Amino acid sequence: MQNAQSLSTSVARIAHLSDVHMLAERPGPAEGVLDVSMRFVSFGRALDPRHRIRKLLLALRAARESGASHLVISGDLTELGTAAQFETLAEVLFDARVDPERVTLVPGNHDAYSRGDAWARALAGPLAPYRRSSAAADSSPVVVERDDAIFLPLDVACHQHFTRAAGELSAAAADALERTVRSVAGCGRPVVVVLHHSPFAHSTRAWQWLHGLRGHGRVLEMLARHPDLHVLHGHLHYDVEQAYGDGPARIFGAPATVDDEPGVPRVRLYDVEENGLRSVSDLPARRAA
Ligand SMILES: [Fe+2]
Repeated sequence: MQNAQSLSTSVARIAHLSDVHMLAERPGPAEGVLDVSMRFVSFGRALDPRHRIRKLLLALRAARESGASHLVISGDLTELGTAAQFETLAEVLFDARVDPERVTLVPGNHDAYSRGDAWARALAGPLAPYRRSSAAADSSPVVVERDDAIFLPLDVACHQHFTRAAGELSAAAADALERTVRSVAGCGRPVVVVLHHSPFAHSTRAWQWLHGLRGHGRVLEMLARHPDLHVLHGHLHYDVEQAYGDGPARIFGAPATVDDEPGVPRVRLYDVEENGLRSVSDLPARRAA
């Protein structure tokens, strides 16, 4: 099995946050040319890196104090995927003393706006300590095996114009994921695919083209075939809890940390139980749009 990362650590509770949209505390010299795209993708939000750092620090503290033994951050880690933004993100994770073995990161569409290899460069650079338990930049499956749960982080981000927010699960990546799911499913532990986009299609074709995940049907097929398969995602910026077929909810979306009210972090929590994940968080109300 490729990229298998095993650690004998109990994961009785999982913390999940998403859509951090980190800005650079010290923007690089080339980032001025990205001003227009930055203002577009951050429309309606203050471009203040200190506010975003503060929100992430509070969310990380809430996750730690929840007793969770594994943390998932499901994409849009940065606003544009610049080197300086990833450096700031890494500094915040370090300052918050996040154990690299206990966090799983995946990129989102925002993390690929600046360049197609932004995630690869981040994993080779400031996020190197988190590489083993996070999504591979070539979309190959990574198996993060813990005593109570198995995480399969997946990169579905693709380089595209900043006015589009789609994701892509290619046929080859879906085939590889399916082979991996088949090899780990049915082992008595929940299998948790972590990706940025929801596996469900949007209600209109236009919105799906703009915001949806190409190849999403393959994830739904796997959910239908494997009752112990779960999905943790972000992208929608609000919390989601959905079943697929009979049985308990298995698809969970986390709200956007960047939209947290000052001083009110929203972190989803799941207890790992015999038949899967059970959401146990009582999230504060979402900010009005
Ligand atoms: Fe986002």
